[in-house]
Amino acid sequence: MVMVASRLAKRLDYYGLRHYGDYYALATGPDFPDEFQMLVNTLTTNETYFFREPKHFEFFRENILKPWRGERFRAWSAASSTGEEAYSLAMVTAETLGARNWEIFASDLSTRVLDAARAGVYLMDRLQHMDNRLLEKYCLKGVRAQEGYFRVHPKLRNRVSFDQVNLMQPLPASLGKFEVIFLRNVLIYFDQDTKKQVVERLISVLRPGGYFFISHSESLHRVTEQLELITPSIYRKP
Ligand SMILES: C[S@@+](CC[C@H](N)C(=O)[O-])C[C@H]1O[C@@H](n2cnc3c(N)ncnc32)[C@H](O)[C@@H]1O
Repeated sequence: MVMVASRLAKRLDYYGLRHYGDYYALATGPDFPDEFQMLVNTLTTNETYFFREPKHFEFFRENILKPWRGERFRAWSAASSTGEEAYSLAMVTAETLGARNWEIFASDLSTRVLDAARAGVYLMDRLQHMDNRLLEKYCLKGVRAQEGYFRVHPKLRNRVSFDQVNLMQPLPASLGKFEVIFLRNVLIYFDQDTKKQVVERLISVLRPGGYFFISHSESLHRVTEQLELITPSIYRKP
């Protein structure tokens, strides 16, 4: 609550407002059409990092990518934040499927994080979980003004696309189907009914036999019966 209040205080200051109710009316009213998205960008919690929960990426490589024999492989990072999860998936996929037909789709509600994700520029010191070999191969170290940063290599960025998707609303028809969905560290922000709706919606675009990942700190207990538990936090659509 304190965190929400301090984040909102900046927006109230910006408009010289004293009451949250006045700010809410402004953000949802017609006079400042961009403010509602600004409110969303301000309120979302976007913490993420490369190879977060490393066991997931091992499972993804060993049990999903290595035995993969299909035509076209698609994975979705469904609350991608600034893109670290999507690029981690892309690195492992590039290592395993190489030049075959694959792509990573990534989405979020916040346009601020999506802009950062598309740019693919990160602070060097955010890399504690990344293998040096992957770093050398897929990341370009910044020099001079960019010292201390790296940029994801264009050959990897070309395989990853980012778009805004609100998981609380019906999914865009153009989304297509996926072999794998990562929905990590976002369900915690939803109530039980919303969790159910979001998960059902995502399952509808997961291919039979496809895998569904949540965070180790989350559970789908009493959320869906449609997925089979493979190991805690990893599920499969029968
Ligand atoms: C903590 S980050 C998780 C990032 C990444 N999946 C990970 O595990 O590191 C949660 C993300 O969920 C996004 N989010 C929150 N509500 C959402 C919604 N209704 N639709 C899509 N994304 C949402 C936030 O903007 C935020 O970037």
